[in-house]
Amino acid sequence: MLNIALPKGRLGEKVYKLFAKAGYDFPGILDNNRRLVFVNEALDMRCFWVKPFDVPVYVERGTADIGAAGKDILLERNPDVYELLDLEAGKCRMAVAAREDFVDDEERTLRVATEFPNIAREYYAELGREIDIICLRGSLELAPVLGLSDVIVDIVETGTTLRENNLRVVNYFADLSARLIANKSAYKFKKDIITEIIRRLKNGK
Ligand code: PRP
Repeated sequence: MLNIALPKGRLGEKVYKLFAKAGYDFPGILDNNRRLVFVNEALDMRCFWVKPFDVPVYVERGTADIGAAGKDILLERNPDVYELLDLEAGKCRMAVAAREDFVDDEERTLRVATEFPNIAREYYAELGREIDIICLRGSLELAPVLGLSDVIVDIVETGTTLRENNLRVVNYFADLSARLIANKSAYKFKKDIITEIIRRLKNGK
């Protein structure tokens, strides 16, 4: 049986629709209930919803053979998996953003609020900039508004959240979207089915 980890939430629903269009459907999976595991006996496949941040963990450890994860999460966690296909769902960008009136004082340590400490650290290390990371779980826009941080490193899709909180993009620095990933040994031992899934997903795009 092939095991598939999908990220629970908006992105996962978009990705699931790509799978369904490609002929891999799991009846009931989009119903409004709390079930997490769905089996399609005819396909010999099992699909489960996991927290978006955890998809690479399930795939790296082989509990899932394949999965769909946001590129942001792959950059942050750097899992030992194969990244096989850009699913082109949930396109957005990673950005540094700040208050409209923000002026950078390079003499001072920059306070950076983010859900992505590794991405932020790497970005500023390349710039040679000293930073103080403040790790938050969502609603990052609050941090510069309330003075908790100077900037945020966050995902920007439409820019609405920034605009509505009087923030502006300082710099965009990575293009993001959902990616199909595979466990390394599953890719070796289940290569035929995984290759077929990729082919069908590509055709459906
Ligand atoms: C993400 C991100 C921004 C927002 C950007 O948050 O952290 O807050 O989307 O989208 P926009 O540019 O279209 O406004 P999400 O909705 O995932 O919730 P979170 O704040 O709890 O992370």
